[in-house]
Formats: sequence, structure tokens, C-alpha cells
Amino acid sequence: MDKLLISGGKPLQGRVRLSGAKNAALAVICASVLSAERVSLENVPDISDVQAMFEIIRHLGAEVLWLSDSAVQIDPPSCLKADPPCHLVKKLRASNLLLGPLLSRFGYARVSLPGGCNIGVRPMDLHFKGLAGMGAEISIESGFAVGRSPARLKGARIYLDFPSVGATENLMMAACLAVGQTILENVAKEPEVVDLANFLNCLGAKVRGAGTDVIKIDGVPQLGGRVRYPVIPDRIEAGTFMLAAAATRGSLVLENIIPTHIEPICAKLREAGVEVLENGDSVTVNAQGPMRPLDIKTLPYPGFPTDMQSQIMAMLTLVEGTSVIVENIFENRFQVVGELKRMGARIKVEGRMAVVEGVAELHGAEVGATDLRAGAALVIAGLMARGQTGIANAHFIDRGYHRLEDKLRALGVQIARSH
Ligand code: UD1
Repeated sequence: MDKLLISGGKPLQGRVRLSGAKNAALAVICASVLSAERVSLENVPDISDVQAMFEIIRHLGAEVLWLSDSAVQIDPPSCLKADPPCHLVKKLRASNLLLGPLLSRFGYARVSLPGGCNIGVRPMDLHFKGLAGMGAEISIESGFAVGRSPARLKGARIYLDFPSVGATENLMMAACLAVGQTILENVAKEPEVVDLANFLNCLGAKVRGAGTDVIKIDGVPQLGGRVRYPVIPDRIEAGTFMLAAAATRGSLVLENIIPTHIEPICAKLREAGVEVLENGDSVTVNAQGPMRPLDIKTLPYPGFPTDMQSQIMAMLTLVEGTSVIVENIFENRFQVVGELKRMGARIKVEGRMAVVEGVAELHGAEVGATDLRAGAALVIAGLMARGQTGIANAHFIDRGYHRLEDKLRALGVQIARSH
């Protein structure tokens, strides 16, 4: 198991160019199996989750070719070859996003129930209810969700009890090749949902309303058209670097950003007293002075993202005063607390609420990542701490951060990896 070794205590300084969005890329790759023709994707992050997804679609019969370190060509399967091996689909929670597109195009799909990050129960009831409403038969067979649809799926009116990102994406993809119109209500408005809708429309789909509460899809018989599509920049990677800069009282220019996507993070940094300047597709963070404590509540977009909660907690450990964090999306997202405490942080957890009392200093320690964003939080804590921090289970971090060590080294950080 890989370990990251970070020597902390120095402010982050310089410029960093961010990569394509993990969650947008994963959804777009799943959507590519809906296409009858080759698709080319750009700004794809070469991270282990994306590699795992490519391996899965290769097993389904797709051909995947990297043209550069961020451009990929996908020849989708014309018929389903075989189910991908269990260990692969189990490894990647996002493989559940293949359920909708495979069912819709081939009338059959088998995906594993939860895998990926250990951050909560993560049920799929909303996905299943929606697909059943479109005429699919869904059953649970030995830990897998199996979908069957002998005829084409039918357009339907579907209300989501919660604006789930995955359910919105799965149902939107399923509806593209369904017969008639689908109306999805109370859907997720995350930028990754909008990016997926834009990609589907490039393939000839008729999706309207992505980014609002209601998405309408008019089904078409086939998708294709040899598209070339750039994935949006990663707002969570951007936010992680912004918080790392603020936490170390550094000064950082971040390039390849869509500023509206990171508004909730910019707002909280400004509230803490950090200077954040937006300029086209770049953002500058300057954090020289003292910072103020914050109240954070995670919410669906455009609220504060749950995927940034652990990282902002790490930053707040050194902010004088009391900060309060309420986690409303995933119930198991405070696992990082124990690790931060090993570094000297003072945090109390009560159900879905964490109370952070700022301390004067963190010290380097041996800690372990428990999930992807907890790992990112420990990197930030390691950058803030006096002395050396060893972060075990670095494979969690590799799932979502493209060339993290190279990017940090270019900003003056001493970081190494041991195997
Ligand atoms: C996606 C992101 C993840 C992010 C999350 C919330 C990907 C690959 N992952 O995950 O990084 O943290 O959105 O922004 O894009 N729920 C149900 N029933 C369902 C589906 C979800 O109860 O059928 C609940 C979940 O348990 C959770 C909440 O809804 O409490 C949000 O989950 P959801 O938005 O679906 O997250 P994911 O799509 O899994």
C-alpha cells in the first residue's frame, strides 16, 4: 500500500493548472456506450477511477485509446460482449452509472451494488424506481443489480424524492433512447449533470433543462455523430487547492476553472477573510492575514459540496475560534476526524455535526486515508503541520487527483511516495 510523505509548514505559492472533472468524466464515459459511433473526449483526468471505468467498458466490448495524457478515443461496443468481472465493478461505485445506458441501448445490464468510497450507505432505490417506471425489470442477484428490458424503455414522468446526482444521471441517460418523452422532477443541478446533458445533446439526444429542477428528454432511436467533447474542469480539485493555499497562508493562481462552479467555496473563503479574485478561467487565492471561523452545511448544488467537507474541516483546525460543520448528504463522512486529532486538531462529533475548535499548531503524524476526500483533507493537514506527515492508503487519493504530487512539488512542497 502506497504512503505519501509530506513535510509541512510552508505556504503554497505559484500557479497550478487543474484537470478535468472526475465525476463528469465518469458519467460521460458511461454515456459513450449509448453512442453507435466513435467519440473523442478531451480534458479527461488520468486517475485510477477513470482507468477502472475504461477497464469496465473494455470488458463490455468498447475500444479505448489514449491519444495524449488527457484525450481519449472510445469506440463503443455494438453488442454486449460479456459482463465485466465482479472485482472491477465492485471497485468502482460509479459503475452503477452504466445501468441506465446499457439497459436503454442493449436491454440488459448488471452492475454491482455499493463499492467506491466508504462514506455512507449509498442506496440505489431512486435509480431502480425511475428505471422501473420506464418499464425495466430490476432485480437484485448475488449483490448485483440486474436490469432487463425486452422492449425499448418507455418515457415516463419521474419524481426523485431527493436530488440524487447518480439517479439523475442514470435516468437521463436511460431516457435518451426511450420511446417518447421523459420528465424528471426534483433532479440534481450539479455542473456534472449539466456537462453530461451537453455531451448527450452533442450525440443527438434531446435533453432540456439540465441545471434546473426539471429535465425533459425526448427519446430518439439512435445516438452518435463522431463527437469531440471536452470534459469540464474539476471543481473539487480546484476547491482542494484553494483550501490548501488558504490553510497554509499561501498565494496561488488556479487555472482551468469555471468560477461559477466553485462559488460556494469562494463565498466561504471570503467569509473567512481570504482574498479570492476571479479572472476569466482563473482564480487567485491570497491568504496572508488571520482567518475567521465558519459555519458550514453541506447541501446539493449550489450549496456547499459534501466532497469539500473534509478538506474545509482540515483548514479550520488552525482557525482561531469555533467552527461548526453539518454534513447533510452522507452519514459517514466524519471518519477523517480521528486522523486529524492524531495531528493535534480539536474536533467533537455529535451525529451529523462536527465542532472544530481552532488550535495554534498541528504536528506531523502517521495517519491513514479512509476515503478519497478524507485523504485530500489529510494532505492539507500535512501541508499545515510542523514536521513530517505520513499518509497511508494513498490509493484513495489516486482515485480522484491527477498528478497531485507533481502539482504540489511545483508549488514548493516537499512530498514523496513510499511503496
Ligand atoms: C455523486 C458523486 C459524489 C458526491 C455526490 C453528492 C459521482 C461519481 N459521485 O455521488 O462524489 O459526493 O454525488 O454530491 O458523481 N440516495 C438515496 N437513494 C438513491 C441514491 C442516492 O437515498 O437511489 C442518497 C444517498 O444515500 C446520499 C444522497 O442521496 O445520502 C446523495 O447521493 P447521490 O447524489 O446519489 O450521490 P452519488 O451520485 O452516489
